[in-house]
Amino acid sequence: MQLIIAPSILAGDFGHFARDAQRVEQGGGDWLHCDVMDGHFVPNISFGPDVVAALRKATKLPLDVHLMIERPDIYAERFIEAGADHIIVHVEAKHDVMKTLASIRGRGRKAGLSLNPPTPMEKVFPFLDLIDELLVMTVNPGFGGQAFMPETLGKISAARQRAPHLNIIVDGGINPETGRRCVEAGANVLVAGNSLFRHKKLDLAGAIKELRANAN
Ligand code: DX5
Ligand code: ZN
Repeated sequence: MQLIIAPSILAGDFGHFARDAQRVEQGGGDWLHCDVMDGHFVPNISFGPDVVAALRKATKLPLDVHLMIERPDIYAERFIEAGADHIIVHVEAKHDVMKTLASIRGRGRKAGLSLNPPTPMEKVFPFLDLIDELLVMTVNPGFGGQAFMPETLGKISAARQRAPHLNIIVDGGINPETGRRCVEAGANVLVAGNSLFRHKKLDLAGAIKELRANAN
């Protein structure tokens, strides 16, 4: 599977999102990961469809929209209208998972499914044929800058065994070291926020290059 680097704009400068989206594109990022939080499904509020629409105007990169919201069945369409290319919904949210995934694919977008660290892989296995990407959370969702949870590595290898054809995404606490361990376990898409936008020594392009080189 192709290695994909998806910087998370949540770690960008909220006052200069368009500029930071362009920096990701010019810096060699493959996708732009957009973290949508509703203050219910997770204890934080980030941004909505209008911000995704502004990011759509700023970059040609695929917008990988991660919905950490309680009712993705109600709001997915708004994000599709805003320009999302991929819509990731959580298996733990309050919706008919199969129906929501079918509606996303029905609109010609990539459908993704995510599970939190405490959720067993068995919960997502029934939906593997209905998705294009599987996101294994490697931190509890809601905030950037958290420490990677090594206990999630086993879930990544179980996912790869079960779904050799899928993009398997890891998200939370990803840096060159943890990214390499996740790729060894079977992941091929690395979402990273703080380790890219707030790297101590390298600029964004340099940090993206380092993350990719370490994972290859
Ligand atoms: C957390 C989000 C992540 C987060 C990653 O709930 O889903 O995408 O922004 O940020 P870092 O890489 O800083 O952990
Ligand atoms: Zn995310």
